[in-house]
Amino acid sequence: MERKVAIVGAGIAGLIACKYFLSKGYKPIVFESKSRLGGVWCKTIETTKLQTVKQFYEFMDFPWPESEETYPNHEEVLAYIESYAQHFDLIRHIAFDTEVVSIDYQGVDEEEIMAWGMWGGTGEVFSNKGKWNLKVENTRTRSSEVHQVDFVILALGLVRDVPYVPEFPTGKGPEVFQGDTIHAQDYADMDYDKARNFIRGKRVAVVGFGKFAVDITAECAAVNGKDRPCTLLFRRKHWFMPETKNWRNLLGYLYTSRFAELLADRPGRGCLHTLLATTLSPLRWLFSFLSESYLKWKFPYKKYGLVPKYHLSEAVTTCKVNIVPEGFFDRVDDGSIKLQKAEEFSFCKEGILVKREPEPVEVDLVIFATGYRGERKVQDIFVSKTFRNLLTGPDSKIAPLYRQCIHPRIPQLAIVGLAGSFSMLFSSEMMCKWVVELLDGTFKLPSVPEMEKCTKEWSEYTKRHGGKTCLPAIHIWYSDQLFKDMGLNPRRKNGFLAELFEPYSPSDYKLS
Ligand SMILES: Cc1cc2nc3c(=O)[nH]c(=O)nc-3n(C[C@H](O)[C@H](O)[C@H](O)COP(=O)(O)OP(=O)(O)OC[C@H]3O[C@@H](n4cnc5c(N)ncnc54)[C@H](O)[C@@H]3O)c2cc1C
Ligand SMILES: NC(=O)c1ccc[n+]([C@@H]2O[C@H](COP(=O)([O-])OP(=O)(O)OC[C@H]3O[C@@H](n4cnc5c(N)ncnc54)[C@H](OP(=O)(O)O)[C@@H]3O)[C@@H](O)[C@H]2O)c1
Repeated sequence: MERKVAIVGAGIAGLIACKYFLSKGYKPIVFESKSRLGGVWCKTIETTKLQTVKQFYEFMDFPWPESEETYPNHEEVLAYIESYAQHFDLIRHIAFDTEVVSIDYQGVDEEEIMAWGMWGGTGEVFSNKGKWNLKVENTRTRSSEVHQVDFVILALGLVRDVPYVPEFPTGKGPEVFQGDTIHAQDYADMDYDKARNFIRGKRVAVVGFGKFAVDITAECAAVNGKDRPCTLLFRRKHWFMPETKNWRNLLGYLYTSRFAELLADRPGRGCLHTLLATTLSPLRWLFSFLSESYLKWKFPYKKYGLVPKYHLSEAVTTCKVNIVPEGFFDRVDDGSIKLQKAEEFSFCKEGILVKREPEPVEVDLVIFATGYRGERKVQDIFVSKTFRNLLTGPDSKIAPLYRQCIHPRIPQLAIVGLAGSFSMLFSSEMMCKWVVELLDGTFKLPSVPEMEKCTKEWSEYTKRHGGKTCLPAIHIWYSDQLFKDMGLNPRRKNGFLAELFEPYSPSDYKLS
């Protein structure tokens, strides 16, 4: 019997899933709400570049075109994704302008599902009783229809569509401000001339200290110079990386080798690992000391009181490693960027009032680069309140999944591209590979209680590290698990020393 598979989203994760399903003989249908594939790479701010070296952000069986660029710009990234889709003939499987507004599991009672001891009741991927009904809407005509399928892959992405703006008490929020407020996404959605004209001549404050915040601040400073400095308003200090390949290579040795992972915390670590990590902790401290000293030498962290209160190793663990735009600190030095720490702030008529600062920061425009709540897209797509609750962890984040793909109690469904990674393309590809092998019967899932034990260990781990599921500090350990499940050898290097000390990169996981 032909099994129907639906993939929701045609960003990199959905496209990779489509390619892997096609390779196993399935005929998936990909629903994409936009009229273009590529997800976040379709439209972003003008200066966006890849911040992962391109060899790490590479489809396993589709190399980048030859060029000198280590960090291609967003147009090159989008062109690369589009040529991947063309090369593997994926486009004809995509229903563009088609939003999946809800998904509903039909055929089995929720009470029965909750009592299952094996995934889907029997441990089999497909069931003859249960199916998913996907309600889809054409985004142009708003006409809707329902598709019934046997398996769903959610590849909705986390960092678009649901912008987050902090809430303020009444009378202290944007409503009292005489200028404009927008989110980084509104700015990213403008065409480049419009964006430049929009900020030209304005006194701008950008809120946040993530990648969008520093990039938009640099763009504003380039347009307005020191006559109208751009204020970057941040509540916590963070480590930023330079755009040099050698530095990235060094980070690889310090943080992404098997030896480095022996020193790191991990979900469900046992006594032996804890003992080893504790014994070797001076080494981890030394790695942090060396890399942080380099960054403090390279950038004026001390001069501007920017030294973060946590170690670089924790930044790697929690996916907080962003590249600072070239020339950023020169613009701080020449006065076109002002850095303003603000643990708390509110609005007034003239601009922003920073707690304990006597004078307001007078501005005409505030851009919130305060991130996204993409988890809501994933949770809200389920009709079932029970499934929504199962997927909601502390702080409304997504509860950890088994192998970061499967919820032990939600049958016939996988979610890819949620866990943070040093290369979201690489981790999405590993997940898709694992999911199709599962569907192909290469391996079976353990019982629901065993899977829940793993997800509980992940919950405890994420609680220890900021609440977000992140793979960079343990990506070898994680990839080992996927490879072992698929019956493949996780040891990918030649020789004991290389296995222990050489950084692992996506190329190690290519299968010939
Ligand atoms: C500007 C920017 C730069 C980045 N740079 C890097 C980088 O250098 N390195 C890195 O590793 N990561 C980077 N990231 C993270 C990035 O999100 C991932 O690398 C990756 O592109 C995400 O792919 P995705 O397919 O998971 O999600 P997305 O690209 O967000 O794609 C999801 C797709 O699903 C569609 N969709 C959503 N909901 C529905 C629905 N209900 N129905 C139908 N379709 C739907 C969306 O329209 C979208 O096309 C960057 C993110 C941004 C925003
Ligand atoms: N490749 C590229 O060039 C590129 C470009 C843009 C974006 N991206 C990626 O896109 C994703 C989203 O980036 P992002 O910058 O939008 O989001 P982000 O990384 O989540 O950063 C959000 C920032 O907003 C701050 N913030 C949140 N709530 C706040 C509040 N109430 N008050 C003050 N500050 C608050 C956070 O501060 P705290 O740190 O204190 O929590 C954080 O600095 C990331 O994965 C990023 O790497 C990549």
